[in-house]
Amino acid sequence: MCGIVGYVGDNQAANFLLDGLAKLEYRGYDSAGIAVFDGENIRVEKSVGRLASLRDKVKDDTPVGTMGIGHTRWATHGRPCDRNSHPHTDCHGDFVIVHNGIIENYLTLKEELQAKGHEFRSETDTEVVAHLLEDVYNGDFEASVREVLRRIEGSYSLVFMSKANPDCLICSKQDNPLIIGLGEGENFVASDIPAIIAYTRRNYILNDGELAIVKKDSVWISNRQGEPVTKKVFEVTWNAEAAEKGGYEHFMLKEIHEQPKAVRDTMSARIGKDGKSIVMDELKWTSEFVNSFNKMYIIACGTAYNAGLVGKYYLEKLARIPVEIDVASEFRYRDPIIDENTLVIVVSQSGETIDTLAALKESKRLGAKTLAVTNVVGSSIAREADQVIYTWAGPEIAVASTKAYTTQIVLMFMLSLYMGELKGTIPADRVAELVGELQKLPTHVGETLEDVEPIKTFAKQYGYNDDVFYIGRSLDYHVALEGSLKLKEISYIHAEAYAAGELKHGTLALIIEGVPVIALATQKDVYEKTLSNIKEVKARDAVVIGIAAFDDTELEKYVDHVIKVPKTDELLIPILTVIPLQLLAYYAAITRGCDVDKPRNLAKSVTVE
Ligand code: G6P
Repeated sequence: MCGIVGYVGDNQAANFLLDGLAKLEYRGYDSAGIAVFDGENIRVEKSVGRLASLRDKVKDDTPVGTMGIGHTRWATHGRPCDRNSHPHTDCHGDFVIVHNGIIENYLTLKEELQAKGHEFRSETDTEVVAHLLEDVYNGDFEASVREVLRRIEGSYSLVFMSKANPDCLICSKQDNPLIIGLGEGENFVASDIPAIIAYTRRNYILNDGELAIVKKDSVWISNRQGEPVTKKVFEVTWNAEAAEKGGYEHFMLKEIHEQPKAVRDTMSARIGKDGKSIVMDELKWTSEFVNSFNKMYIIACGTAYNAGLVGKYYLEKLARIPVEIDVASEFRYRDPIIDENTLVIVVSQSGETIDTLAALKESKRLGAKTLAVTNVVGSSIAREADQVIYTWAGPEIAVASTKAYTTQIVLMFMLSLYMGELKGTIPADRVAELVGELQKLPTHVGETLEDVEPIKTFAKQYGYNDDVFYIGRSLDYHVALEGSLKLKEISYIHAEAYAAGELKHGTLALIIEGVPVIALATQKDVYEKTLSNIKEVKARDAVVIGIAAFDDTELEKYVDHVIKVPKTDELLIPILTVIPLQLLAYYAAITRGCDVDKPRNLAKSVTVE
């Protein structure tokens, strides 16, 4: 949450700062601000609301100068308003900072500094950092920043600018991401790659506790003790277009349509040359290693958690290992039973979600082996886990996750097959059959995306309802959870998913005439039972949209509308059935005039607990 940018070079800083912030708006969009240094003075401009209002504010009088910092905010401490927006300054405007994270001891520090006469202008935790720097400043910028870092507690990525030091920015991070983009005669600082990809593909990724002094033609990095650190340059493999809308009205729609490619990219390199087996070069596990696990955990948040539910089903079914699943924010505090025979899998698109990262660290502390499933190379979670397997979905910008979900499921399916093969829990011919089906998936995903018109019609018909229910059993229930999450995230319609058999234990009381119910019925072993549950809601005059397998001829007799997905193995069907639900959420949000890519109160990357 919150996006940070910084620039030192020969060009006008404001151009990059505003451009970079536009690419980071997915991280927070309550307010935005920039501070530009012209060598003598630092001018700060900020504005509540979207970046567009800041752009408007400075369009006829853009701050001039070749060094600067910028920020787009997701409010934690203090409501969104100009005063609480970053950058924040000390009493005299000599020090300017931007921050992502939470300074946990800010109240104590604030009281101390107020007692010494510092005047605060905002309700934020961040402002304390600027005043603390003013307070401890001894003429040595780096040493003073180190002193500040010693005194603050919590999580942060921070960029500092000082009037007395016109040639450099200093930045540091703890539990929040920060990268340094390397240019020619100019260098950049950012929370994430999309901000700088149009300027450079060469980056340094900062580790926790590291401090960087960024000048226009040098970057010097040191560790917490002040010792120099030699970094490898991280080359980004994707290009600027990958982080653009490419003709689509919204990133979400583009990302939904990128799913055939995302699924193919995630899968291809992991299918054996014979086309019948799984190869996981990143893991190179042995039967002995896999057999050493007597229990697994899957830990994640949001959509990644919903993908994890499907992963748990696969791992138990195919590799026959008991799997517990937990949302990361709960896992850490429930004293989990873990030892060296436990494998903990953390799933995270961004690789930066702080609860997931903390759960990973806790698992390691308790002695578990850890594996990350993530989409971002070099992310904190990727670096922290013992091993990592990447979903190759490409950058996902829309807050509502789509292609990350489908690729996470593909990857966990492949992992389950891989582990099952090593454990001998699946016969080779079944593996070959499933790998065959897997290879047809990108085509099937593409076919599912072709049939959009009926979904647009449903969205128009039902988009103004106050409540929508999703029901299903087994794998269908897990997909129902993801469908309902998509709908509430971006259309703000109250949506709930229920295990179809559970509906009658309370929620059925809410089903009245005209309430839309999306019913998934693709799983053969529970098909008849699901059908009975569908009849129960129909009997209460709900409007039912059924999601069915290609060959289903029954469901249409009992529901109002049916959407069928192409032929695939029942196990893989979640990757197809979720697509109409993603599209339904998208078009419902359009019907209601919602800001699809930047939904109210949410952010893409949640780096606060
Ligand atoms: C936020 C996003 C969700 C995402 C969740 C977990 O809530 O809005 O789309 O699923 O974080 O993010 P991660 O990057 O860990 O998958």
